[in-house]
Amino acid sequence: MPQQDACTLLDEDHKKVEQLFKEYQSADTARKQQLAQTIAQELSVHMQIEDEIFYPAFLDATGDDDMIEEAEDEHDEARELIARLEGGKADDEVMKDLQKAIEHHVGEERREMFPKARETSGLDLVKLAQELEARKTELMSDHPA
Ligand SMILES: [Fe+2]
Ligand SMILES: [Fe+2]
Repeated sequence: MPQQDACTLLDEDHKKVEQLFKEYQSADTARKQQLAQTIAQELSVHMQIEDEIFYPAFLDATGDDDMIEEAEDEHDEARELIARLEGGKADDEVMKDLQKAIEHHVGEERREMFPKARETSGLDLVKLAQELEARKTELMSDHPA
C-alpha cells in the first residue's frame, strides 16, 4: 500500500462523517441518539487534530492566514452546534444545521485547502499523516465513543 498523505487521511474522516449524517436522516430515535454522539465525537477529534497539527503546518508552509482564519471560524461554529447537543437529546434541527455547516467546511477543505497543500513544496504530507494518525488514536482512547 502506498504511504498515505495527510489530505487523504483527513478526507477519510470527512467521508465517514458524511455517511453517518446520511444514516441519521432515516434512523429511529434510539439510533439517532447514538449517531449524534458518534458524529460529535468524530468531529471533535477531527477538528482537534487539524487545529493542532495540520492547520499550523499548512499555515507555516503557505502563509495563507485568510484560509486558516476562515477554517478556524468554521470549526468554532461547528463546536457551538456540538455544544448544543451535549445536553443529551439528539436534536434534529441542530443536527441539520451541523450537517450543513460541515458540508460547507469540508467542501472548502477539499476544493481549496487540500489542493493547495499538495502543490506546496514545503509540506511533508506523509509525515503529517503519521502525526495526525498517532494523535487521533491517542484522543480516541481518551474519549471512547
Ligand atoms: Fe476543518
Ligand atoms: Fe477537515
